[in-house]
Amino acid sequence: MKHFIDIADFNSRKLNAILKTAKQIKKIPKKFANKCKNKTLGMIFQKESTRTRVSFNVGFQKLGGHSIELNPESIGFGKRESYQDVIRTLSQFIDILMIRNDDHNIIRNLSSLNVLPIINGLSNYSHPCQILSDFLTINEKLGNIKSQRICWVGDYNNVLRSLIELQCLYKFKLNVVMPKEILNKNKSQILKKNNTNLMVTNVINEGVKNADCVMTDAWVSMGEKSTKKRYFKNYQVNSDIMKNASVHAIFMHCLPAYRNEEVSSTLLDSNKSVVWEQAQNRMFVQQAIILDLL
Ligand code: CP
Ligand code: NVA
Repeated sequence: MKHFIDIADFNSRKLNAILKTAKQIKKIPKKFANKCKNKTLGMIFQKESTRTRVSFNVGFQKLGGHSIELNPESIGFGKRESYQDVIRTLSQFIDILMIRNDDHNIIRNLSSLNVLPIINGLSNYSHPCQILSDFLTINEKLGNIKSQRICWVGDYNNVLRSLIELQCLYKFKLNVVMPKEILNKNKSQILKKNNTNLMVTNVINEGVKNADCVMTDAWVSMGEKSTKKRYFKNYQVNSDIMKNASVHAIFMHCLPAYRNEEVSSTLLDSNKSVVWEQAQNRMFVQQAIILDLL
């Protein structure tokens, strides 16, 4: 049974194949309109979501399938009965399950039951659907990812972990910028693969310099302590900061954005920003992931 839990579980050949399918779906959606006929996708969100919820739901309908969202409160997920027994029950009715959960270990553990293909729709640890679809956006906007310099400005969070996993496979240049209070705690973890194309710094202009793509995310992720926000006040990505990047540089953000915190409203709405297409690409990549798993 196949699952989609982390980027690091795959090799580049497999991810390239998923991306190729995503591009085909985007180009000729009609060709895929019946691929999931009579199939049911289950979705469980234990954290808030707009993009993941809608892109999985609409994306699966466009493949001819039916999706059902199970409110964790209503089914008493892990309370009325164990997580494992809920999954065993669901496997009697549905074909594939997407989970957004605060505990990555639960997602891993449930996938190891091997009763239902499971997709990680974000955990405290990673956000692989986001980064694989960002890979598509970068490819469309800039070309081959291997020749890009990507700069991340923000926390050491779920999205960054998946980005680092992608970098380990494709070896593009990745500059990671974060305040020293956060960098010092996580530096060895970030640099553990001893990869020369990955650098870390707490100097934002140094990290952004000559970047082809500047990415950021909320300073405080869902479920994290808001006290860490104070370290980030000099780490806003805005039009001035973007002047250090290459002239053709794009700005990316997985969204939701906190305007005038991690990104200035002006930059988010500028022609450097690709965030809305970035959000739309979630759907095509997730459709391709689903087709691969099924
Ligand atoms: N980027 C992303 O996953 O958005 P949602 O949290 O709204 O699903
Ligand atoms: N890092 C963010 C991503 C939201 C899609 C969070 O976990 O809240």
